[in-house]
Formats: sequence, structure tokens, C-alpha cells
Amino acid sequence: MAEERGNVAEQSAVFPPPKEFQKTAYIQSLDEYRERYERSIRDPEGYWGEVAEEFHWFKKWNQVRKWEEPWVEWFVGAETNLCYNCVDRHLNTERRHKAAIVFEGEPGDVRTLTYQQLHDEVCRVANVLKGLGLQKGDRVAVYMPMIPELAIVLLACARLGIIHSVIFGGFSAEAVRERVNDATCKAVITADGGWRRAKIVPLKETVDKALADGACPSVEKVLVFKRCGNDIPWTEGRDVWWHEAIAEASTDCPVEPLDAQHPAFILYTSGSTGKPKGVQHAVGGYMVYTAHTAKYIFDLKDTDLYWCTADIGWITGHSYIVYGPLANGATVFMYEGAPDTPNWGRFWEMIERHRITILYTAPTAIRAFIRQGNQWVTQHDLSSLRLLGTVGEPINPDAWLWYYRVVGKERCPIVDTWWQTETGGILISPLPGATPTKPGSATLPFFGVEPDVVDQDGKPVPTGEQGFLVIRQPWPGMMRTLWGDPDRYRQSYWEVIPHVYFTGDGAMRDRDGYFWILGRIDDVVNISGHRIGTAEVEHALVGHPAVAEAAVIGVPDELTGQALVCFVTLKSGYQKSDEIKGQLVEQVASVIGKFARPKEIRFTDALPKTRSGKIMRRLLRKVALRDPSLGNIDTLEDISVLAKLQADEE
Ligand code: WT7
Repeated sequence: MAEERGNVAEQSAVFPPPKEFQKTAYIQSLDEYRERYERSIRDPEGYWGEVAEEFHWFKKWNQVRKWEEPWVEWFVGAETNLCYNCVDRHLNTERRHKAAIVFEGEPGDVRTLTYQQLHDEVCRVANVLKGLGLQKGDRVAVYMPMIPELAIVLLACARLGIIHSVIFGGFSAEAVRERVNDATCKAVITADGGWRRAKIVPLKETVDKALADGACPSVEKVLVFKRCGNDIPWTEGRDVWWHEAIAEASTDCPVEPLDAQHPAFILYTSGSTGKPKGVQHAVGGYMVYTAHTAKYIFDLKDTDLYWCTADIGWITGHSYIVYGPLANGATVFMYEGAPDTPNWGRFWEMIERHRITILYTAPTAIRAFIRQGNQWVTQHDLSSLRLLGTVGEPINPDAWLWYYRVVGKERCPIVDTWWQTETGGILISPLPGATPTKPGSATLPFFGVEPDVVDQDGKPVPTGEQGFLVIRQPWPGMMRTLWGDPDRYRQSYWEVIPHVYFTGDGAMRDRDGYFWILGRIDDVVNISGHRIGTAEVEHALVGHPAVAEAAVIGVPDELTGQALVCFVTLKSGYQKSDEIKGQLVEQVASVIGKFARPKEIRFTDALPKTRSGKIMRRLLRKVALRDPSLGNIDTLEDISVLAKLQADEE
């Protein structure tokens, strides 16, 4: 970890919030931030109770927080509804005819939905869901392209208390099947296809593969939106066309008041075992936390056109495309496709044409743009931009500085936001009008968040030293449990280091109290901001008939942040060949998804193991990085000899 990231303590440049931005920001000084922060930590119930007053509750809470480690309840006894707060609440205000969503498809089709129109569409879809026999508490898998209907589906589910489980459109049939079955989803909502790099992503076809041969017995209905008009397989009695079902649906659909602890949704993410974790969030706390963070971290105003480039298939899209911004009555820009279609100017051209004011994207995207040359950016008028954000992985200072200068023209503050699927919302980030930034640091905790950097026993490490990033007390956006697996929740998050929330990240705190996130310290790899468990990849590899054993590690990559290197031993009777290498790469793509494709497959005669049989990943990492301390290890035989030698030493 340390040698991969360099000595971050040496990064000393400080950028105060740009003056023009500061003038209109909600929080305009570090003192103001500190005062509010200290209050939020001293009196979390008072703080969050006051924040929650901004929203609509069908029934008020009788206690703000009930905390019995590791179980938390926020707004105990209260009833609310995410959809009501994101949509209906704005209808009696001047926001009613304001744009909620401005959408651009990859082929260039543009659509705007006002809050009133969004309300009507959400109600119609909610009525369709009811018509399919779905009700409060049922789980529904959503496998859709990045089109407004995806946001509409989420809100329609939220309106009725149906628990959505969005599966990123890049996941394979096998991954879809596993997730659908884990949550015993009653329906799948999908589209015929979606546009990506001028090609059709065959979503419905993949759903059919996932459900084939009765593999998902809980699924009764598949609702299909027509996006691309491509030919698709059809199962009579099970499959329903969206446009047919919606034709007669009413734009009136009463909101279901939900207990604040009711599950809002499940979102699967990777952990250190092969089985994905179904992270479960609760309606009340999640709503308050995502809305509050969105407002202060993005300084959201009614005049903004806010664009988060993430896919709704990940938590970033849930919290900062759909729920957080809409709960603030903001206007959200949504784009369906790839950043390089028709060319690398696409993002900047859209920012210019739509006059986008806030851009929230990932370091890996920034690095890809840097590679293409500044002209794609500089030929566009980006003067509408006032704030930039990044998320998903540590941002290298060079990329930060490029973003600041070439995109933001030194006028736009950058918020480097650290958080996780499990945290529901952003936990560590600058406040754009208040916090002086340092390239590569996520800076300071948000209100109500108490992070620390500790050793294995939970003892804080000294300033400037590396340790584990933990959070000392719960915040409203915190996950409630893992779907169907409360023990794993307790063990993975609250028992690794006793009595604190364990993030899985390494971190360092500097003299100013700024946090520097160093990346995962568990067996989770971050490729282009996509979280992948090495155990999942190993599981995929050993599914190939030629593979005896596999060990997978993450190595630094200039473009994608990290990349996968797979060490594989073959069963006897199989010959090492480029053909098998190719097959193994495809195997991972088909079991998990194309985004998980390994960068390198290396055959070896043996894997280095400890006496107790544990694979020595640290050694493999050295081998993959061609660590000079190992001598010349470029041939396969060298690796296995080395592996044997090292294993004997253990
Ligand atoms: C992991 C969580 C939260 C939305 C996207 C990813 C890494 C995330 C940052 C950041 C350094 C970051 C961490 C974290 N990460 N944001 N600003 N700086 N690292 O959500 O898939 O749950 O992944 O992403 O390693 O643990 P996720």
C-alpha cells in the first residue's frame, strides 16, 4: 500500500476555496464548518433531528437515534416516504414546473422531465408495478440502461415500499442470476437494450439467460422498456412490455407511508469472499443523509444543472443522481452512453450545450481525458461550471491539478468525496466554500461523521502514520445490515476492530487533520472505480475446466487505478497457451462482467502458500510488480521456484 502510493505526507500544496464561489456558498468558512461539525458530534440527536425537520414525515419520530452496536435505528417510530420527499413535496412550490431531469441519450436524443411530469410518470409506473402483483416489501431487480425510466422505476418502487435491487448493466447473466436469487426477487425490470459506444447492450437477452431453465424460481414477471427497438427473446405470460402496461395507467397513485426503518433498497457490492454483499439501507436515515450531504457538498442551488456521470447501477448513482439531488429539488442531468462517443469531446460538448454547472466524476475518467489531450476540453466553453467533484478511488495529485486547471480554470473548487456503498452517502469531503483543499486528500469529515486512523487494536496511530480508517459512531446513511446475513454484517464491519465501523481502507491523517485515503487493505480491488473482490475473480477462473488453482491480486494501473493480475495453475493434461489465456479473460467477463476483465494472466506451476495453506498474496504482488528485491523473475519457472522457496521459508 505505502510503496504503491508514494509518500502522500509530502504533498503540501493548499488551494483555498475560490473567492467567487465562496461568496454564495452555504458554508463560507472553515470556522463555520468547525462550529457546526463540533455540534453534530457533541449532540448527534439534536443535529440530525433538526436536519430531518426539513423533510416530510407522515409521522414524527419519538427518538432520533437508537444505537445498540452494531444495530442502529434513526428516526425511531417515524413514517416517511423517499418518493414523496423527492417528488411530491416539490409540487406545491415554484419547483413544480422546473426540470427535475434533463436527459441526453447516446444517439443524441434529449428529453426534459419537470417535477410534475416526473410525478405523473412515477405514478403510472407505480400503478403498473401494482398491476404486476407487486407490493410493499417485495424485492425487484432492476437491470436497465441509463435512461430516465431507470430513475422513474426507483422512485416508483420507493413510492410503494417495494425494495429495489439495481444490478449494473455491465454485469453478466450469471451475476444477475446470483443477485436475483439472493434477494428472491419477484420481478425483473429491464429494457430491450441500451446504447453504449454506438452498439446495443443486449439487456433483455442477458436477463433471459439469467432466468433460463427455471434458474430464478422467484421471478414471476419481467417488465421490458423499449429503448433500442432491437429484436429480443420473449416469454409469453412472464414478459410484459412497459409501453403496453403503462398505456392505461393512471397518473394518480397514493404514497405508502413507510416506517423509517423499512428497507429502501438492496445494492450488491464486493467483499473479501466470493459472495457479493447485499447492502441494505433504510428509508428514513438514508433520505436525510443523502439529501443533507448533497446540499452541502455540492452546494446545490435551484439554478444548478448538476451532472453526476456515474451509472445508477452503483451507489453513487442511487445517492447522487436520484435520491440526494431530487430530495433537494435540484435539476439533474443524465447521460446514457460512453465518454468517447462519437469522440472524446462528448462530455465537454454537453457541458457547453446544456450549461451544466456541477460535474461529479471519477479519477479514472479524468485520467482517460488527460491521455486524449487537452484540446478536447479546451475547444469548449466551460464557463457554466462552478464546482467539480470526484469519487470512487484515490485521485492522484496530477489528475487533480489537471482537473482544477484545465477543466475548472482555477475558478471551481474540487470536492474529493470519500465514501462506500455501505455508508450510503459521502463521509469525508471538503465543503466547497469552506475547506482549503490539498490535491489527493479527501480532507475533513462531514457533519456527524467521526473517522479515525487506528492500528489493529483500535488504538489511534500518530499523525502522519498509516493505519486503518474506521468510523467511531453511526451516521444516518449507514447501512442497516446485509440482506439475509446479519452475522456477516456484524463480523465484517463491527468485529474486525472492536466497537468501530471498519471501512476496509487504509488512511493517514496529516498535521491539519486532513485524511488521505490510501486504498483498500482487504481483498477488494478497485478497477476504474468498480469494486471487485479478488475471490469472485478466482471463483470465476476455477470454473474453467483447465484451471486447477487461481490467485488474483490488484496492481496499480496508470489509467484504471488498479488492475487485476491472475496467477493460474493448470490441471495436468492442459498446456499453457495464449489460447487458454484468452479463454480465461473471457471466462471472467462472462461470469462477472466485462468491466472485470483481468489485465494479465500468468501461468505458474505452483502458488506460494503458507504452511497453513494460505496463498501468499503479498509475494504475488511483488512478483506482479517485478519487485527488484526478488531478482530476475521474468520466466514462469522462476516464479514457481521462487514461490516454492518462499513458501518453505514461512
Ligand atoms: C471504496 C468503496 C462511494 C462511491 C463509489 C465507490 C474507494 C471511494 C474514494 C475517494 C479514495 C475512494 C475506497 C472505498 N473510494 N471514494 N474519494 N478517495 N478512495 O463505492 O464501490 O462501495 O467502493 O472506493 O476504497 O472503500 P464502492
